[in-house]
Amino acid sequence: MTNPWLRIPASDYEAHMTLPEVAQAQAIARLFASALMEHAPASLAVFGCSTGNGFEHIDPLQTRRVVGIDINPEYLAILKRRFAAKIPCLEVVEADFTLPGFRLEPAAMVFAALVFEYVNVHEALQSIERCMTAGAILVAVLQLPSEESAPVTPTQYKSLELLAPIMRLVSPDEFSDTTAGVGLQELNRETVSLKMGKAFFVGCYRKDIESSSSVDCSEGRLETPQ
Ligand SMILES: C[S@@+](CC[C@H](N)C(=O)[O-])C[C@H]1O[C@@H](n2cnc3c(N)ncnc32)[C@H](O)[C@@H]1O
Repeated sequence: MTNPWLRIPASDYEAHMTLPEVAQAQAIARLFASALMEHAPASLAVFGCSTGNGFEHIDPLQTRRVVGIDINPEYLAILKRRFAAKIPCLEVVEADFTLPGFRLEPAAMVFAALVFEYVNVHEALQSIERCMTAGAILVAVLQLPSEESAPVTPTQYKSLELLAPIMRLVSPDEFSDTTAGVGLQELNRETVSLKMGKAFFVGCYRKDIESSSSVDCSEGRLETPQ
């Protein structure tokens, strides 16, 4: 089965996420900005980066390597077009990062927002852990269940409805148990309220310093053709 994310045009995705009644793009960009401010990473990997929401907050003088990973090549091409000049160290990787062979040169910080809802969480976290240096930080954003709104708010962008069969909200406790199982210890968690009764869970995790699974894996890297 083709991943439904490959059938959602970037224009629909961005328009949906920025609608006043959804407003999730703006909330994620703010969380990304504050994570960058707090952790000031020397290297950064953004899993499920889409078209680069929030990348305007990256300071390339401070973060000297930036990798955006996504399964959708159209999204990555847009990200590259928008940010290659401002972030000269930007790399994009077109891949399903949950596959067992997925590897990147490890980064000091990983940001992953609203992607765990569409993947096997354990496989995703195993891949992410492999892509983190010892002591690196993961900031993960999950969508919490809402009594007022459907998980994917119905809007005029009907292509988003293709996601319904693969979307599953992830419980923060299940998520934190899984992170602990792959060697990522929870540092803190918070709940951020959004419009329409929705809310995000934001968890921050640190990779064990003594973990030995980080290796230089730059050979397995895939660059999107531009
Ligand atoms: C809800 S969007 C994330 C939004 C993004 N973080 C933002 O701030 O707008 C989920 C993203 O994850 C990507 N994605 C979903 N499954 C994936 C997978 N298995 N591997 C890589 N990317 C994936 C989708 O293509 C999409 O861009």
